[in-house]
Amino acid sequence: MTAARFPGEPAVEAQDLEKIYGSGNTEVVAMKEVSFRVARGEVMALLGPSGAGKSTLLTAIGLINPPTSGRILIGGVPVMDGSRALVDLRAFRRKHLGFVFQKANLIPFLNARQNVQIALEINDVPPRAARGRALELLDYLGVADRADNLPSMLSGGQQQRVAVARALANRPDVILADEPTAALDGFRGRQVMELFRKVAHEQGAGVIVVTHDHRALDVFDRTIEMEDGRLRTPKQAVAEG
Ligand SMILES: Nc1ncnc2c1ncn2[C@@H]1O[C@H](COP(=O)(O)OP(=O)(O)OP(=O)(O)O)[C@@H](O)[C@H]1O
Ligand SMILES: [Mg+2]
Repeated sequence: MTAARFPGEPAVEAQDLEKIYGSGNTEVVAMKEVSFRVARGEVMALLGPSGAGKSTLLTAIGLINPPTSGRILIGGVPVMDGSRALVDLRAFRRKHLGFVFQKANLIPFLNARQNVQIALEINDVPPRAARGRALELLDYLGVADRADNLPSMLSGGQQQRVAVARALANRPDVILADEPTAALDGFRGRQVMELFRKVAHEQGAGVIVVTHDHRALDVFDRTIEMEDGRLRTPKQAVAEG
């Protein structure tokens, strides 16, 4: 039981989220009646067809794209009430959230170690300590031997490991990943998914990964599925109802 190993508030709680893009006849209801929790130490997959609202949900929780209504709590702290921010979003994001995208988006003129180190330094970690922690993280993710290399000298899988190291740098409560393995082959993709699992279980982060890759679903503690902006009701819940 992962949740029992990391007691306390859930890492993420979404309450009745709704997102409407546009207005009038261009209005799109991208998210509706979305409620769920992710425990600390839990790694959850978010599935669903293209246009289902997965990125809308992830960016809402990531405090990048506010919902139209509903509430978001991170680490037990209410952070959004509808589109109204209850905390300083930039500062909160930097301290408590980690992101991984489809492409690693590393800074091209910084080496692997510097790409991780800079994430720490913008959170006021002194350079020496930041350097040490960056090397430690690269080691944890199995790319310590690439610390001095520029991103252009790394394979896609290695770049994505550096991106995961960067996302972990500030020990976030929540890690959000949007199709992080889409650019990788099955084997490398699975390795990255297993890293998310390891990070959740060992460090107590709540991890949400949007994925279309059904081959790696066994890595996750739980999967939820979106369709037309709503969470699909799990089948057993329907049977019990
Ligand atoms: N900025 C926007 N303005 C208007 N509509 C948008 C905007 N972003 C997304 N949408 C619409 O909201 C719905 C959900 O989009 P979203 O990007 O969340 O889907 P998704 O599940 O991530 O899809 P994919 O698997 O293709 O990435 C879609 O109908 C999309 O067209
Ligand atoms: Mg998307």
